[in-house]
Amino acid sequence: MDFQLTEEQTMVRDMAREFAENELLPRARKHDEQGFLDPEVFEMLRELGFFGFTIAEEFGGAGLGNLELALLLEELNFACASTGVTVSVHNSLLGGPIKKFGSPEQQARWLPLLSTGERIGCYCLTEPNAGSDAGSLVTSAVRDGDDWILNGTKVWVTNGGFAGLGIVYARTSTELKGPKGISAFLVPMETEGVTVGKTEKKTGIRGSSTTEVLFEKVRVPADALLGEENRGFPIAMDTLDGGRIGIAAQAVGIGRACLEASIRYAKEREQFGSPIGKFQAIQWKIADMGTRVDAARLLAHRAAHLRDRSEPCTLQAAQAKLFASGACNFAADECLQIYGGAGYTDDFEVERLFRDARITEIYEGATDIQRIVVARNLMV
Ligand code: CAA
Repeated sequence: MDFQLTEEQTMVRDMAREFAENELLPRARKHDEQGFLDPEVFEMLRELGFFGFTIAEEFGGAGLGNLELALLLEELNFACASTGVTVSVHNSLLGGPIKKFGSPEQQARWLPLLSTGERIGCYCLTEPNAGSDAGSLVTSAVRDGDDWILNGTKVWVTNGGFAGLGIVYARTSTELKGPKGISAFLVPMETEGVTVGKTEKKTGIRGSSTTEVLFEKVRVPADALLGEENRGFPIAMDTLDGGRIGIAAQAVGIGRACLEASIRYAKEREQFGSPIGKFQAIQWKIADMGTRVDAARLLAHRAAHLRDRSEPCTLQAAQAKLFASGACNFAADECLQIYGGAGYTDDFEVERLFRDARITEIYEGATDIQRIVVARNLMV
């Protein structure tokens, strides 16, 4: 299935698979129904070091790369996409930018806490009127002596309900327009003035936390600024290059779950005197699902490999997310079709997979945005 994995990468994948099959798969329905992850799952994720997966060993992490993270995320998402996105956002969207853009002091302060999962990370970019057009955000950060005062509302914040540290994008210049006048801040979520707003009731990934986060006169010190003043947007975009590889891996995981569920059912379910898998109509669906899911994995691994070598990967990450999310939704749709009426009930996992798949085409840059990024990078 995977080619050219090192011995260590194969071990990572097998360990993740064992955990996902033994601990997550049996809980996936419960997570979906109750709307949150079991606390013991967080404990296990902590003990296994999954929150510090890509953080350097000197900060208590496992020191692994984006390819290993993609392997981990495929397995977690195969079993439970709600758990998968929780781990993905924490690693890619918070640990990632602190590792890449943080000062030595910021790294020493925050990375050990993120590694152990003592603090879970969240990414506060999107606003009610700044979704795909992220550069139009209006949350403000105004200087007050050495401090900054933040005001604004963020939405669609994954992990918002329990995060201990947020990366918050805010406008620091009134002269510079659009993406140019934005800065990134590291904000402890217990800071006075930070409140968690509405929790979204979602179609899928219902076990994950998605909330509003409100900032009202939030005072943070000068050293909360990540990177350069007014240069936060490129940090947000570079971070999303990494995050999109994670969502591509999520899509591969959900897509593979659909494929395997389809094969199982096609062998069991009998109609017209034989298992439906004997019919070419079903075989063609399975052939197309398997081919697209494998192609998606290759694209995700290529992008992860480039990012691990510190080579540009904006194009490849967008291609991976674009293709993988499409493959995933194709697989979910065909899987449900193979199950027929049974797949449209909650007797089987298919309806959850179908609901979970849909978000991969929306968050961390909708499919339409990925096409823009791909075209812009091909047409330079
Ligand atoms: N890496 C580094 N820098 C980048 C970059 C990248 N991949 N992409 C753009 N930049 C830089 C540009 O070079 C430019 O820098 P300069 O100021 O030096 O010129 C700056 O960022 C602005 O770039 P653009 O001119 O391309 O900006 P734009 O306004 O045209 O926007 C966009 C481009 C691709 C549409 C962008 O707005 C975008 O990706 N939108 C989607 C937002 C998104 O993905 N949101 C998801 C939020 S996270 C989430 O889903 C919630 C969750 O918790 C899971």
